Amino acid sequence: MERLQIALEKARAARGRTQPAPDAADPSVGLLKREGMEAATHKSEVDWTDLSPLEVDRKRLQRKRIATFDGGENSAPFDLLRTRVLQQARQHGWRRIALVSPHSGCGKSTTAANLAFSIARQREIHSITMDLDFRRAGLTDILGGSAPYGMADVLERRVPMADVVLRYGENTLFGLNTGTRTRTPSEILQSAQTSEVLKDIENSFAPDIMLFDLPPMLASDDNFGFLQNVDCALILVASEKTPMSQIDVTERHVAELTTVMGIVLNKCRYKSKTHSHEYDYY
Ligand SMILES: Nc1ncnc2c1ncn2[C@@H]1O[C@H](COP(=O)(O)OP(=O)(O)O)[C@@H](O)[C@H]1O
Ligand SMILES: [Mg+2]
Repeated sequence: MERLQIALEKARAARGRTQPAPDAADPSVGLLKREGMEAATHKSEVDWTDLSPLEVDRKRLQRKRIATFDGGENSAPFDLLRTRVLQQARQHGWRRIALVSPHSGCGKSTTAANLAFSIARQREIHSITMDLDFRRAGLTDILGGSAPYGMADVLERRVPMADVVLRYGENTLFGLNTGTRTRTPSEILQSAQTSEVLKDIENSFAPDIMLFDLPPMLASDDNFGFLQNVDCALILVASEKTPMSQIDVTERHVAELTTVMGIVLNKCRYKSKTHSHEYDYY
C-alpha cells in the first residue's frame, strides 16, 4: 500500500468554528469522556449483539486495501491516525467525525473502513461508521454489502437503523447503502429530519464515535448542510493529485461548517525522513 502521510493539525483557529460538542457537559455521554475507559460499561438501549453480523470477506478487504484487522506493519499508519483521532475526540468531547475530500478517489472510504477496524481493536470503544455517499458505492462496495435497504432509507425514516446496520465483533457497527443510486442525496443529507434521525441513533445505540464517509466536497452540494451535524471533519487529500487550490477551498468550506480536525495526505509514495515509520506530522 502506498503510504498514508498524516497531517493532523489543530483546527485552524482563524477559520474553524470552535464549537463545543452538543453535550460535552453531560458526563454520562460517551466512554471517551470518562477516565478509566476500560471499567465503563456500554449503556445502549439496543443490544448490539442482537444486530446482524457483517460477513467479513478477508480476501476482498485485502484487495480493497483494508489493513487494520490484526494490527501489524501495514496497519500502523491507520492505527496512528486512529489514536490521534481518538485523542482529539476525547480531549474536545467530539463524537461525530466526517471524512471529506475535495474530489473523489482521495481515500475517504478506504480510510473510513481502516479506521473503523482499527478502532474495533479497542474493545471498550463502540463505533458506528456510516456510508453517506449516496452517489457512489464506496464503503458499501469495500465491505461487500448488498442489503435491500440502506442508510438513505434510515435517514428518510422508511426503515429502522437496527434493520440496516451490520455488526463487526461486539463494538463496531456499519450503516451501508444498497448499491442503488439515491435520487435526492443532497436533499437527504441536508434535511432537518436527518439531524433528528442522527440524534435518535445516538440515543438508542450510544456510540462513542460516529464516522461519516461522505461525498467529495467540490462535486456537489451534498455535504454543505450535513457538515453542520458533525463535531469535526478530517480532510483527505491525494498526494501529487489534489491541487493546493482545491485543498485550500475545501478547507475553507469545511471550516465554515464545522471544525477541521486535520488534513490527511494519502497515497504518498515517499518515506518520511523525520520518522522511522511511514508517516509524518506537520
Ligand atoms: N493509501 C493508499 N494507497 C494506495 N491506494 C489507495 C490508498 N487509499 C486509497 N487507495 C485507493 O484509491 C482508490 C480510491 O479510494 P476511495 O477510498 O474509494 O476514495 P474516496 O472514497 O475518497 O473516493 C481505491 O482504489 C483505493 O483502493
Ligand atoms: Mg468513497
